[in-house]
Amino acid sequence: MARTYRIAPSILSADFARLGEEVRDVIGAGADIVHFDVMDNHYVPNLTIGPLVCEAIRPVTKALIDVHLMVKPVDRIVPDFAKAGANIISFHPEASEHVDRTVALIKEQGCRAGLVFNPATPLSHLEHVIDKVDLVLIMSVNPGFGGQKFIPQALKKLAAARKLIDASGRDIWLEVDGGVKVDNIAEIARAGADTFVAGSAIFGAKDYKATVAAMRAELAKA
Ligand code: DX5
Ligand code: ZN
Repeated sequence: MARTYRIAPSILSADFARLGEEVRDVIGAGADIVHFDVMDNHYVPNLTIGPLVCEAIRPVTKALIDVHLMVKPVDRIVPDFAKAGANIISFHPEASEHVDRTVALIKEQGCRAGLVFNPATPLSHLEHVIDKVDLVLIMSVNPGFGGQKFIPQALKKLAAARKLIDASGRDIWLEVDGGVKVDNIAEIARAGADTFVAGSAIFGAKDYKATVAAMRAELAKA
């Protein structure tokens, strides 16, 4: 069965002086999901955006807002993002004392729950919540910045995660994040990913439409 592919531009690389316009433009250019990176300068060495910004962009688009929490602790801020209009909320297992409880909290808010794996984080964290999560996010860079180089070992991890997801029989999205470009997206899809975060590759390009179309053309060949 042909896999559904989704492209999720990361607004971390957008022009923040025109964020609403950028969101409208990139979804208008054919992208599917808005990837929203939340960094707290504690779990990761950078500080970005919170629920207020999510609330501000919510009326601008009907597209799903995919909140990637790189914060510690996690639970306190989850309801705020749900209220602000998030559709998907993902977190890092190392940042939560009780992964099962955090997954349940996200779902209680009516959002899809995602678990994020840093390059060195083992997939074993998934074992006891694979019956509950809606998304698995494989980091192909160490979290904290856009514009980093794709770590090739992530391909093996994507293939292993794909096997676990297929064995579960559940509709779990497999997302990849970090260093995704037009020239590596097909190889990443062949490894098993179906949802592709791209920040600098899209917002760093002059023509969003041409870049998203080039990514889709590569995916069609995967
Ligand atoms: C990094 C973030 C990514 C980042 C991706 O910690 O989670 O979403 O913005 O940016 P690129 O595509 O430029 O690597
Ligand atoms: Zn991210």
